[in-house]
Amino acid sequence: MTLQAPSFVRHQKLIDWVAEVAALTKPAAIHWVDGSEAENQQLLAKMVAAGTLTALNPEKRPNSYAAFSDPSDVARVEDRTFVCSARREDAGPNNNWMDPAEMRGTLQGLFDGCMAGRTLYVIPFSMGPLGSPIAHVGIELTDSPYVVASMRIMTRMGRNVYEVLGEDGPFVPCVHSVGAPLAAGEADKPWPCNPDTKYIVHYPETREIWSYGSGYGGNALLGKKCFALRIASTMGRDQGWLAEHMLILGVENPQGDKRYVAAAFPSACGKTNFAMLIPPKTYDGWKVTTVGDDIAWIKPSADGQLYAINPENGYFGVAPGTSVKSNPNAMAMLNEGVIFTNVALTDDGDVWWEGMSKDIPAHLTDWQGKDWTPEIAKETGRKAAHPNARFTVPAAKCPSLDPAWNDPAGVPISAFIFGGRRSSTVPLVFEAASWEDGVYMAATMGSETTAAAFGAQGVTRRDPFAMLPFCGYHMGDYFQHWLGMADKVSKLPRIFCVNWFRTDADGKFIWPGFGDNMRVLEWIVGRVQGTAQAEDSPLGKVPAYAHLNWAGLDGFTEQHFQQLMVLDEAAWRHELAAHDEWFAKLADALPASLAARRSKLAAALGV
Ligand code: GTP
Ligand code: SPV
Ligand code: MN
Repeated sequence: MTLQAPSFVRHQKLIDWVAEVAALTKPAAIHWVDGSEAENQQLLAKMVAAGTLTALNPEKRPNSYAAFSDPSDVARVEDRTFVCSARREDAGPNNNWMDPAEMRGTLQGLFDGCMAGRTLYVIPFSMGPLGSPIAHVGIELTDSPYVVASMRIMTRMGRNVYEVLGEDGPFVPCVHSVGAPLAAGEADKPWPCNPDTKYIVHYPETREIWSYGSGYGGNALLGKKCFALRIASTMGRDQGWLAEHMLILGVENPQGDKRYVAAAFPSACGKTNFAMLIPPKTYDGWKVTTVGDDIAWIKPSADGQLYAINPENGYFGVAPGTSVKSNPNAMAMLNEGVIFTNVALTDDGDVWWEGMSKDIPAHLTDWQGKDWTPEIAKETGRKAAHPNARFTVPAAKCPSLDPAWNDPAGVPISAFIFGGRRSSTVPLVFEAASWEDGVYMAATMGSETTAAAFGAQGVTRRDPFAMLPFCGYHMGDYFQHWLGMADKVSKLPRIFCVNWFRTDADGKFIWPGFGDNMRVLEWIVGRVQGTAQAEDSPLGKVPAYAHLNWAGLDGFTEQHFQQLMVLDEAAWRHELAAHDEWFAKLADALPASLAARRSKLAAALGV
């Protein structure tokens, strides 16, 4: 094994750190990733040979691959995710905490020899445009070639990053291992991981990330949730900005008035779909453009506004439910050059997932390699694709990509939108009466859990700001940080709440959703521009039926609308009890103004 760094790496501290991690993890080889196409092709071919990737039929989907994970490794593991701040109270009740010294001891044991028989890849990456003043560099050391290929899509990755770093530039060190050392001569698995032991660990003070045992998504692509949210949120707290689980989109009306909004919905609750929305046919002259679909870094600017950038370079999107009907933009970018994970395979070498087409193939190979037919599905309930099956694709392929998506200055935000997955209680849309009210609504937001995280699904939990699994510090301090933004910017965005997921007595979604979410978005930007009407409600301002544009929406009546907007007294009594329970966990760190707002809301609702 050679420790020799290539000539394009001139950063001695980085070279020493790689040597240190290699001495601990004992890989068979070190590969300094340069990000070139030739290197990428080599890695892809190696993974096809190893069975990690299946090349799809080039006539159906050129340059595309499918990966199938171990059934124990299909989503983020929130109960194995730790924020190891020096003081327990800095992690808050929203994070698992362990004393950093104790955790380092545990990890030292686990990482000792954990890369045996594998290659250690050194991945240089930038979150945000390379070299821009708002971007931050990370180096991920990993023993997973799947992670290398995915990081190449999801971040600005490659040797140019070393030019930005120079001889002593700052970077966030990220160490990742699948936690499956190979003994001499031992055959590898297609998806190596550690089914029993997983740790996703953050040290916020020293800005380090250590991840062990999983090769999947946010557990392993460390630039995403670990760096761009958990570590970046602590940087934002210290430096006066925000790192959020938000999509960013542009919306332009026929008069050419263009606004940008940022929206926080929890995992698998509609960010990618909303970011790529195509307005209904009757919206002649309207344009919706995509800046980002998952993460926003938002900073106050000298002009008194908040500006947002998307630090990512690709989309790691939920496949199930994605179709030409629900998200035509996403389908268009999946035509070639995609890595799919845990989708099903058709007999002619293409991919399929639940909700992709009305016609269900007569035979498939499911994500676990088993035969699948509609009959088997009916009998067993077995899904062809895992519910958290994903596609990984470069942002540049998005047909609705906003021209400013790469602008280091970011885009000015006119409105924040918060939304959960709620089958009851929460109306289609409302506008908070003030910044403080909006922060309260976001801070108490609930959502039904999804397959994006390992564990029970469909359970309503508080997911404040859609950041419960991603805020790297105490949630009470985070709320205070949001409240404090009111003093940092003179032109505060308005705050709105939405819910696309209310169901009827048969459990069917009442709201058509997807492209028709444009009707709500039009009202939101209309409120910002001062053109949309509203009436008062205990929650803030709401549209009356006549205040929304219904042109071209068949089969949706005023009665349906009322069903979506009704505030049920018993449900809200229950809801406020859930707010109380959540706030009690924050104890002294709960900002006083939010506690006061709770009483005002109860009075307004009459509960
Ligand atoms: P993460 O990548 O996990 O952060 O998720 P996301 O918030 O980007 O969620 P995404 O847009 O991928 O949507 C997740 C699921 O919700 C998919 O199955 C979508 O089809 C479905 N979905 C998205 N928007 C809507 C909507 O407006 N109505 C309904 N009923 N379902 C939706
Ligand atoms: C999420 O769970 O919110 C995701 C997918 O965006 S992952 O990258 O796995 O966290
Ligand atoms: Mn997400």
